[in-house]
Amino acid sequence: MNFHKVHHIKGQVRVPGDKSISHRAVMFGALAKGTTTVTNFLQGADCLSTISCFQQMGIPIENNESEVLIHGKGLHGLTRAQQPLDVGNSGTTMRLLSGILAGQEFESVLTGDASIQQRPMGRVIEPLSQMGAGIISIPGNGCAPLQITGGGLTGIHYHSKVASAQVKSAILLAGLYANGPTAITEPQLSRNHSELMLRMLGAQVSSQGTTVSIQPEPVLTGRPIQVPGDISSAAYFIAAALMIPDSEVRIRNVGINPTRDGILRVCRDMGADITLENVIDTDGEPAADLIVRHSRLHGTVIGGSIIPALIDELPILAVLACFAEGTTVIRDAQELKVKESNRIDVMVKNLSAMGASIRGTEDGMIIEGGLPLHGAVIDSRLDHRIAMSFAVAGLASDGTTQILDSDCVKISYPGFYADLRKLTL
Ligand code: S3P
Repeated sequence: MNFHKVHHIKGQVRVPGDKSISHRAVMFGALAKGTTTVTNFLQGADCLSTISCFQQMGIPIENNESEVLIHGKGLHGLTRAQQPLDVGNSGTTMRLLSGILAGQEFESVLTGDASIQQRPMGRVIEPLSQMGAGIISIPGNGCAPLQITGGGLTGIHYHSKVASAQVKSAILLAGLYANGPTAITEPQLSRNHSELMLRMLGAQVSSQGTTVSIQPEPVLTGRPIQVPGDISSAAYFIAAALMIPDSEVRIRNVGINPTRDGILRVCRDMGADITLENVIDTDGEPAADLIVRHSRLHGTVIGGSIIPALIDELPILAVLACFAEGTTVIRDAQELKVKESNRIDVMVKNLSAMGASIRGTEDGMIIEGGLPLHGAVIDSRLDHRIAMSFAVAGLASDGTTQILDSDCVKISYPGFYADLRKLTL
């Protein structure tokens, strides 16, 4: 797909439901007793993989697009799948499901696409093994496919080396099935959607600083869940409006959970004009309309404890940094190397091809902003966030930007190009 420079972006957009929350609504709804009705569920390929895995384990799920109904069977209601469970491209499905399967008295195999089979699973294999699960990487390289023989779990207090909500959630979910309390301490606080939703469904979860603990065998009860818009999807419109002269957009109903709002803090620090209206709170998940206007930006340093609160937004922030005066340093972000692609390599290669001054480091990137960008052929490496980042870059660059495998955006935002186009009219 090709992109060209536009004069402005203007208007309103409503981004699809939050990916992290949509996954959790299906998984936790399946473990609750009774029906969980999810509104504004993200109909992206990753979340559809989660639905299909739970259907294969005997959970009736009705997907009516606007509403998803999960008829949960309680903590011990899952049954063994007849086939290996295929998570597609979804790291969240793979890692959270590993935690749930560690608690089941049956054997499972978890697999997925070529990208997921290269991502590190040792980070869940280690703690779940310590709890007593039989969990092995079938190819023996710490990656999927995984074979999991669950049951007989012991509660542990795990100190994780990475700030990862996927690891934290896997351990908490296994903790539902342990013989005593389970705790996890992470180096920085990662997104806390699991804690909030599990508590809302009836689990005893307590958080103190970067430690979360959970009591086993709660009775979880299904209930309505409203999913706010995904700030990680809103990020592309935020950046586009800031970068492109004469732009102003209103992005409706965006989740602004403080463990996810790092992009707003960084953009404001760079001089961005972003205001919030209609702030609401649904069961501890706050949301608001974001009004974003074109702004003169300056470089900044992005590192330390804010990284987990914007980890998925770093590709588009790297694009944004090219349009800011001065130097932007992204550091402490080595996790970028193990996402759907190696996002440090891919950003450096593609932004360099467009004429940017960017250098990769061990744990991030250094960008000298202010150089005009020109079009190039961009290999998305089938990474949805790379494709969306360069679509936005293309709207602010001379010449033609061609994105290869552009339809990979279906992972998290199937209507992305249509929504972006509407704002350019
Ligand atoms: C997610 C956690 C993050 C994030 C991913 C979604 C989640 O991954 O990058 O897109 O839903 O828990 P890590 O837990 O690996 O940091």
